[in-house]
Amino acid sequence: MSSTTTPGPPPLVDPSRLVADPGAAARELHEAGPVHRIAGTDGLPAWLVTGYDDVRRALGDPRLALDKRHAAPGGYRGLALPPALDANLLNMDPPDHTRIRRLVSRAFTPRRVEQLREPIRGTADRLLDAVAPHGRAELISAYAAPLPITVICELLGVAPGDRADFRAWTDALITPDPARPGQAKEAVGSMLAFLTRLLAAKRTDPADDLLSDLIAVRDEEDRLTEDELMSLAFLILFAGYENTVHLIGNATLALLGHPEQLRALRRDPGRIGAAVEELARYDGPAPLAIRRFAVEDVTIGGVTVPAGETVLLSLAAAHRDPRRFPEPDRLDLDRDASGHLALGHGIHYCLGAPLARMETEIALIALLDRFPRLALDASPEELRWRPSIRARGLLALPVRW
Ligand code: HEM
Repeated sequence: MSSTTTPGPPPLVDPSRLVADPGAAARELHEAGPVHRIAGTDGLPAWLVTGYDDVRRALGDPRLALDKRHAAPGGYRGLALPPALDANLLNMDPPDHTRIRRLVSRAFTPRRVEQLREPIRGTADRLLDAVAPHGRAELISAYAAPLPITVICELLGVAPGDRADFRAWTDALITPDPARPGQAKEAVGSMLAFLTRLLAAKRTDPADDLLSDLIAVRDEEDRLTEDELMSLAFLILFAGYENTVHLIGNATLALLGHPEQLRALRRDPGRIGAAVEELARYDGPAPLAIRRFAVEDVTIGGVTVPAGETVLLSLAAAHRDPRRFPEPDRLDLDRDASGHLALGHGIHYCLGAPLARMETEIALIALLDRFPRLALDASPEELRWRPSIRARGLLALPVRW
C-alpha cells in the first residue's frame, strides 16, 4: 500500500457512517481528503474516492476495470453467481463490453422505452386506486416496488401470471431474510430455471418485447451467446428494479420534507424533469458505483492505488461536493443538477437511464396528482433505511392523505 501524500496507510473509514448519515459523512470525508481507505462491501479493504472531479474522471478511466480477473489474488470476495448469470456488462471491460453494449443498444431503443409510457401510467393509477380509499399506506410495498417490477416484466416480456414468482425471487436476492440462509441461493436457481424457459419460449414464439429483440439482434456475424442473453436479462432486472424503487421512495420523502418546493412543483408540474435530476443528486439510490480494480498503479487525487486493489467511487459524496454543487446539502429544485452521476458516466453509463427518468417522473406526478394532501405518516427519525452501503433506500415509507 503506497501513497504519495500520506506516510502510511490512512485510517479505515467506518462504512456504517455512510449509511447512518450520508450528508455528515460526506462533509467529513471531503474535509479529510480526496481518497480514503475503507472496509469494502465484501469486508476487504478498498479505496474510497469522494471528490466530484476525481469520481467523474475515474468513471471514465480505462485503467479502472470492472472485470474481476483484474482483482489481486484473494482481493475479491463479492457475490458468486453461476456463469450463466455473471456474463454481464457490469463485470466487463472493452472489447467484450463494447460488443455487447452495441448489440443491446440495437434492441433497447427509444421506441421500446416510449412504448412503456402508457403501461407505466396505467400501472401507477391502478396501484393508487387500490390504496386511495384507505387514507394511508406504506408507499414502498404498495407503490414504489410493484411499479418498477411490473415495468421490467413488461419490458422483458414476462407474462402477468409469472410476475408474482419473478418478484418474489428478486426480492429474496435483494433483501434475503437472515432467518432463511439458503433463500438467496434457491432464488438464483429458480430465476435461472425460469429465464432458461422464458428464453426458449421467446426463441420459438417471439413477441414484441426486449427479450425477443435481444435474441434477434445480430451485428454482421456477431450475436449474443446464451450466457450473455441470460446475464443481460438478469442485470436489467436487478439494475432496473432496486434503483428505481429507491429513487421513487427517496424522492417522495425529500419532497415531503420540503413543503414549499413541493408546492411549487405542484403548481408547475412541467418542471418534473429538472426536479428528478436534483432529487437524484440529493438522495440518489446508488451511493457507490460498481467496484473497480486498478489494472496498473493508478494515482487518484494524489494517492497511488496499487494494481489489483479495489476502488469504490462514492457517487453520494461526489453529489455533496461543495466545489461542484454549492450548498450541496440543500434540496433546490431550481438548481441545474445536470452533471450529477446518479446514473453513472462513461462507457457504463446507465443503459436504462431514459426509462429510469420516465418512470420516476410518471410515478411522482401520478402520486402528487392523486393526493393533494400527501404527508409523511411517521417522524423522519422513525424511518428505517436499508442497512447497506451499496443501496440507499427506505425499508418502509408510511404516508397519509
Ligand atoms: C433510478 C434508477 C436507476 C439508477 C439510479 C441507475 C444507476 C446506474 C448506474 C450508476 C450505473 C453505472 C454503474 C457503474 O458505472 O458502476 C448503471 C448502469 C446500468 N444500468 Fe442503471 N440505473 C437505474 C435504472 C435502470 C433501469 C430501469 C435499467 C434497465 C431497464 C438499468 C440498466 C442498467 C444497465 C444494464 C447498466 C450497465 C451498463 C453498462 O455496464 O454498460 N438501470 N445504472
